[in-house]
Amino acid sequence: MTNLPHQVYDRFQKLIERARQTCLREPTAMTLATVGGDGRISARVVLLRSFDERGFVFYTNLNSDKALQLYANPNAAICFHWDELGEQVRVEGPVERISGEEADAYWRTRARDSQIGAWASHQSETLDSRETLEHRIAQSEHEFLGQEVPRPEFWSGFRLVARRIEFWSNRPARLHERTVFELVDDQWSHRMLYP
Ligand SMILES: Cc1cc2nc3c(=O)[nH]c(=O)nc-3n(C[C@H](O)[C@H](O)[C@H](O)COP(=O)(O)O)c2cc1C
Repeated sequence: MTNLPHQVYDRFQKLIERARQTCLREPTAMTLATVGGDGRISARVVLLRSFDERGFVFYTNLNSDKALQLYANPNAAICFHWDELGEQVRVEGPVERISGEEADAYWRTRARDSQIGAWASHQSETLDSRETLEHRIAQSEHEFLGQEVPRPEFWSGFRLVARRIEFWSNRPARLHERTVFELVDDQWSHRMLYP
């Protein structure tokens, strides 16, 4: 039983809601850190697109640098920081590919421009000029003219299944409050950490 405990789910849900209400440009932006088979660590920002008791889902190109690292080492860390709220959330755990149905359902909610962009971009590969990218976008627009844009096989989502999640709240004099929830031997437990 690796689902998130209710109190963790509720606490995170409330934070995301507060971030949304604070009118941040990207309230679901999170830094995603991955490690390749060669030990190289890489971090970049992606958007959290869904969240439930099973974990944290983001979408990307399956040939991208991050995806290749995740195939080599299916573990990752994500970190949210909402400066305006004085809150940070760190999550660590294994990462799994989501189902084709789940990816299709999300794909259909994306703007057509973003769908075309996904087809046109060889994410993380060398691009010789902006003109090449614009040309590829025009090609994809032409290819799918007058029809729905299908989800490319090379584009889908990953779910980070939390094994450790830490809530950090800003407090005066740097005496911040830290609570970490951990899954050990299929049991969730929590403790506080010194700031
Ligand atoms: C605010 C913001 C949101 C982003 N969201 C995503 C995203 O959801 N998925 C994605 O693949 N890249 C996203 N990116 C781009 C990534 O940061 C990164 O440039 C890209 O995924 C390639 O990373 P990689 O070469 O390590 O695979 C976003 C960037 C920013 C600044």
